[in-house]
Amino acid sequence: MGKPETFASYHGEYAEPHLDLREFIVRCEAAGELLRIQGADRDLEMGALAEAVAHKKLEAPAVLFEDIPGFPKGFRVFSGGTNSKKRLAMLLGLPEVSSLIDLVRAYRQRMKTHTPIPPRVVETGPIFENIDRDDAVDLSKFPAPKVHEEDGGRYIGTDDLIIMRDPDEGWVNAATYRVQVHGKDTTGLWISPGKQGRQIRDKYHNAGKPCPVLICCGHDPMLFLAASQEVRYGLSEFDYAGGHRGRPFDVVMSEVHGLPMPAHAEIVLEGEMLPGDSQTEGPFGEFTGYYASPQSNQPRVRISRAYYRNDPILTMATPMRPPTDLSFAKCIVKAGMIWDEVEKAGLSGVQGVWCHEAGISRMFNVISIKQAYAGHARQAGMLATACQGGAYLGRFTVVVDHDVDPTDIFDVLWAMSTRCDPEQDIDIVRRMWSSPLDPLVPHGSKGNFNSRAVIDACRPYERLADFPKVARASPELLAEVKRKFSTFLDQI
Ligand SMILES: Cc1cc2nc3c(=O)[nH]c(=O)nc-3n(C[C@H](O)[C@H](O)[C@H](O)COP(=O)(O)O)c2cc1C
Repeated sequence: MGKPETFASYHGEYAEPHLDLREFIVRCEAAGELLRIQGADRDLEMGALAEAVAHKKLEAPAVLFEDIPGFPKGFRVFSGGTNSKKRLAMLLGLPEVSSLIDLVRAYRQRMKTHTPIPPRVVETGPIFENIDRDDAVDLSKFPAPKVHEEDGGRYIGTDDLIIMRDPDEGWVNAATYRVQVHGKDTTGLWISPGKQGRQIRDKYHNAGKPCPVLICCGHDPMLFLAASQEVRYGLSEFDYAGGHRGRPFDVVMSEVHGLPMPAHAEIVLEGEMLPGDSQTEGPFGEFTGYYASPQSNQPRVRISRAYYRNDPILTMATPMRPPTDLSFAKCIVKAGMIWDEVEKAGLSGVQGVWCHEAGISRMFNVISIKQAYAGHARQAGMLATACQGGAYLGRFTVVVDHDVDPTDIFDVLWAMSTRCDPEQDIDIVRRMWSSPLDPLVPHGSKGNFNSRAVIDACRPYERLADFPKVARASPELLAEVKRKFSTFLDQI
């Protein structure tokens, strides 16, 4: 292979990455992190159950919906694959650690040696077990859920990979964008302005050509993790995910457009978007916690092939008011990406990065640094706000000193309250990259801009030496009294 093998065994238990979604589900169950639910209806019940599970406890289990009314017994839906430290560590082959910041650190360490590994093209794979062609395509065959009560329809693509080839440069983008079922062989596809898939689609349509596309809606969660992150333009998510896996993903080429699809995927739809061909799409309950973008005309995908495994498993994500069935994992990966990117941009002294789950894992981000020079804190804040991992749909970036744990919101608020002078320490950056999904962006706005607050909650650099000392017992004193008075302390 000639590439570094980045996958490290998880607790020594698994020396190899899982082969596919099915093997990952087996591993989740062996780790005690899978909940099987039988008999839930795909209309509203599965979505509401995903919400009930995600809100019941932190790091809730993954869910496998079985025996879905109206569908063959083997057809299943899977959600929440990566949403715990254990499952994320297992997925990425990272050591399981107890603290959030240690997992972010492990991800950051991985990125120091991460090398993209392109997929391997193979002749065949389980995804070819069933192929419906042209008139035989019937999307009602699959248990696409109506996720929220106010959704405009059923969504077959929530945890999906939208695979397109850049017509100029030839590289393949794989991204997660929502896909509504419109008819027997048509879907919608909603892509926010600025996204790479939208740039690619525009290239075809501006040249008056149809845009070929694959919609993969059941796959290894590693591919979903890559597809739903803002990986730099020009780097294929297949290669990026392969780099984490330490092995190439096997892909087979689609029949009509020769696009690569994961050989072990569960369901893949192949189609094209014609210039000017659109249909009413949405609304859809989104990850900001709102039905933020109303119904609008969006490109229609005309499907000419449906490829699926026997007893296929549809993957589902449930965006909603957080926490969601993916928001925890997103905090870790996004924080790791921002950490990696600001350091690659030259920033020193980073102690940690965290994207808070209540801030929908991207709108309230905290970076902690060991200040080394005047201006260091602002540099950290500006970079974290504008790097590729943090640029889309952010709102607040808080910079804290190294004695503040960025994952601890109590600590962060204390630092903001005592070290940030709003008049001089809050900078507003205007006209940044946002989306119709931002509830503050007015409907129909052409620009979809938002503003950012970069909040410097570090001690003023010029006063580092004489800033009031933190009033708390020294670790030695605290340890001593805890030992000496343990009989009293143990009563509480
Ligand atoms: C569950 C989920 C659903 C998403 N749905 C959409 C969507 O409908 N449209 C969109 O533009 N981005 C959506 N995103 C965000 C994109 O997947 C993300 O910004 C990704 O980086 C886009 O890929 P790209 O950088 O190749 O454009 C979603 C993310 C997740 C996790």
